[in-house]
Amino acid sequence: MSPSRSSSVRSTSLRARLVAVLTGVTAVGALLAAGMTSAHAADTPLRDLAAAKGKIIGTAVTGSKLTGTYGDIAGAQFNSLTPGNAMKWGSVEPTQGTFNWTEADQIVAFAQAHNQQVRGHTLAWHNQNPSWLTNGSWTSAQLSSLLQNHIGTEVGRYRGKIAAWDVVNEPFNEDGTYRSTLWYNGLGVDYIASALTWARAADPAAKLYINDYNVEGVNAKSTALYNLVKSLKERGVPIDGVGLQAHLILGQVPSTLQQNIQRFADLGVDVAITELDIRMALPADSTKLAQQAADYKSVTAACVAVTRCVNLTVWGFTDSDSWVPGTFSGYGAATPYDENYAPKPAYYGIAEALGGTTTTPPPTTGGCTATYSVVSQWDAGFTGQVKIACSGASLSSWKVGWTYGAGQQISQAWNATCTQSGAAVSCANASYNEAVADGGSVTFGFNASWSGSNPVPTVTLR
Ligand code: G3I
Repeated sequence: MSPSRSSSVRSTSLRARLVAVLTGVTAVGALLAAGMTSAHAADTPLRDLAAAKGKIIGTAVTGSKLTGTYGDIAGAQFNSLTPGNAMKWGSVEPTQGTFNWTEADQIVAFAQAHNQQVRGHTLAWHNQNPSWLTNGSWTSAQLSSLLQNHIGTEVGRYRGKIAAWDVVNEPFNEDGTYRSTLWYNGLGVDYIASALTWARAADPAAKLYINDYNVEGVNAKSTALYNLVKSLKERGVPIDGVGLQAHLILGQVPSTLQQNIQRFADLGVDVAITELDIRMALPADSTKLAQQAADYKSVTAACVAVTRCVNLTVWGFTDSDSWVPGTFSGYGAATPYDENYAPKPAYYGIAEALGGTTTTPPPTTGGCTATYSVVSQWDAGFTGQVKIACSGASLSSWKVGWTYGAGQQISQAWNATCTQSGAAVSCANASYNEAVADGGSVTFGFNASWSGSNPVPTVTLR
């Protein structure tokens, strides 16, 4: 090949590749946006995939959010819920003797309405206890009776409605010694056996767990937990399961995860992955999202591989409801759905490990989604908005469309040019908001009329 030909080929090829990348990213974004909605609707829900493998798949939830899209996804995709905070002692008894069961009751009712299990979380912990308890000065006998009453009251209230309780949470230090807590310091190590025994008495049908973090791989802490469970079993203390929280970091799934799950199973207890999330340094990009998908897939596969690994629960299913950004500055995007409730590559990683196939290409490059919402509504009118958000992809221009099924009529739009022909609405970007960057979003609004009902339409992004 002559130098000039070579250089011309190279520049043509570079240009072609650039065009391909640009249009490709746009097309992938739009494709995935369309595909995510339809793929999501058409694909088998995670709970059905899990059930076919004999597994339960769960998510931590916030009770007040269990409506709209959040509630739809929580109900459709998962067959187990864990209250993220609602059942902790500080939530249920903020003042001694005064109980607030509102959010916990709400979550249990939602679970029952959606044929879901509930994992109760958590009874004996060093965090999120009420200040009257932590600030009090108690004798051992008083502490013991406080904990026994707490367990009896809470487990008793939900007797028959909770599949499994995290009875004891985070009892160990990283080196495998016992953590210095209100319970350990006041009652000695037998607070663990006592708590389990009291929980069994209050609900004989609930599976009783000890739950901890950084015990996913074989290490000093998980070995201490292993030895504890072994000795509890030998003593006849009621212990049914071990919870591996699995708050993981991108690319750092322990290589001994499956081996570790198996050694607990071999002790004769169930294992649950109880709080899975996989955080990354922000901003997310397509490489990190692909790694995260692989990580979610390998954690799920490890659970699938061990018969006694019965439940895999994510600690919040959406990035908009995750503890990570508030705790690890600069980190986030740790869950399987993005902040706009679009499934991320991680979602498909879980689905694949559960034997699912997707009808669209696995979205390893992320995508862009359009989310329609009604902002306010009055007698005959309403204000709506559509948010277009990209994660792992970008758009150089956009157009969204939907069909109104109940006679709604748009009268005015801003930040977009909208036309309506019969029931069909089409909105295109304004000149100043045509680009949506990876990690960015644009929002446009409109006023419209309605009568009778005002259902939310399915929006497609082109
Ligand atoms: O409810 C208050 C709200 O009124 C207030 O305005 C706001 C201001 O900070 O705080 C709110 O409380 C927060 C609470 O979550 C509810 O959102 C607390 O500050 C915050 O500390 C608390 O964080 C929780 C954390 O446990 C506390 O340790 C997270 O939501 C919860 O996801 C997390 O869950 C734990 C598991 O229980 C055990 N394993 C680790 C896991 C992650 O930390």
